[in-house]
Amino acid sequence: MTQDELKQAVAKAAMDYIAPKLERSSIVGVGTGSTANFFIDFLAQYKDEFDGAVASSEATAERLKKHGIEVYDLNSVSEMEFYVDGADETNANLELIKGGGAALTREKIVAAVAKTFICIADDSKMVSILGDFPLPVEVIPMARSHVGREIVKLGGDPVYRDGVTTDNGNIIIDVHNLDISRPIQMEEKLNNIVGVVTNGLFARRPADLLLLGTSEGVKSIP
Ligand code: A5P
Repeated sequence: MTQDELKQAVAKAAMDYIAPKLERSSIVGVGTGSTANFFIDFLAQYKDEFDGAVASSEATAERLKKHGIEVYDLNSVSEMEFYVDGADETNANLELIKGGGAALTREKIVAAVAKTFICIADDSKMVSILGDFPLPVEVIPMARSHVGREIVKLGGDPVYRDGVTTDNGNIIIDVHNLDISRPIQMEEKLNNIVGVVTNGLFARRPADLLLLGTSEGVKSIP
């Protein structure tokens, strides 16, 4: 199976998981990236069976609207059962690195509100220790150099993601060679640097369910 076929398979598995639980009033949280895009295409087939969605990026909002799915501002939503999104890396504890598509902050906000965070990923994303994928950090532009120096003190190599502005008007620093053997602690340390909006570690709020695409089929973890 190609990587795209694996992504499509997990997107369908997520849809199969949530479809029987959807109600006319349900709002679904939707992530960003190529795997999430496959999910949006499946979700569209059920658009008359739920109320609408909250998007974790402008790109996702656009795709949802093109399918005729109502997109809500998160502030007008009081309850959200499911958030479905991809990841750049996951470990066996369902702690994640996200933000390859620069949408990490909104993704983390929507994940925080949802009761159940379903992560969908092909098995190339499964690692024993997070950190081969450079960790994205969203930073207020004027703090770029300061945050870079603080990241070096934590043992990482910060690389400015040239030409990228997030949906929130900020910049991204990708951190290479960081020791992420203790994900929760590292997530907190990075978030404590003044000027950091958030970082792409999802460890304090890991996924609740991982649907992992493998050549033997979709594995459900735990
Ligand atoms: C977006 O900012 C990311 O967090 C994505 O969820 C992540 O990059 C996964 O993307 P793919 O599904 O395209 O691999």
